[in-house]
Amino acid sequence: MAHAPHVVGVSGSPTAPSRTTVLVDEVARSFAEATGGTSTTIELAPLLADLGAAPFRSGLSARVQEALETVESADVVVVGSPAYRATYTGLFKLFFDHIGQYALIDKPIVLTATGGSDRHALLVEHQMRPLFGFFQSLTLPLGIYAAEADFKDYAITSDDLRERINTAVSRTLPLIRSHIDPETIYAPVEFARPDAF
Ligand SMILES: Cc1cc2nc3c(=O)[nH]c(=O)nc-3n(C[C@H](O)[C@H](O)[C@H](O)COP(=O)(O)O)c2cc1C
Repeated sequence: MAHAPHVVGVSGSPTAPSRTTVLVDEVARSFAEATGGTSTTIELAPLLADLGAAPFRSGLSARVQEALETVESADVVVVGSPAYRATYTGLFKLFFDHIGQYALIDKPIVLTATGGSDRHALLVEHQMRPLFGFFQSLTLPLGIYAAEADFKDYAITSDDLRERINTAVSRTLPLIRSHIDPETIYAPVEFARPDAF
């Protein structure tokens, strides 16, 4: 591998603690572990007021600038948002409104979301994927959605969710490897096909 990849998670929940942050962090750590890299998770909740303070990036606080730059320089980005009114939160969109229009081109993006139930699981496909289509990113084919029932006291308790995370990592690893290391030849891996899909 050309270099140890830096995997950056972004949690678009306005609350702390947050199931979305737990999910994003777990997925980011799993990808980092599988690629021999490192991971960082950025919580947008503490940046809520900062993000509303100015219309343009140049007027935003130093810690927002730092968060934006961390995402723009990542090798892999794991994004996550709670479902709010059947889509991602306004906070999540506000943050990505300030990401450079061309900063995420071809960057591998892992899409994740949480919700009260499974009813709005397709927000990953119908709302998140088109947003990163705008950025011309390489959105990885398997998104990960979790419902409140998959957590207890803000910890993942569902074996099914863990299996979905493992499957997403193993299925998309060849894509990520070939992307961050041009010398790696894409080689499909064998993977389980759990009934959950
Ligand atoms: C304002 C608001 C709107 C919500 N809208 C939805 C929704 O449309 N669909 C859904 O499944 N859950 C909805 N929820 C539930 C949250 O998505 C769910 O509790 C989520 O896991 C919270 O994530 P967090 O712990 O990271 O904040 C809503 C919650 C709030 C506070």
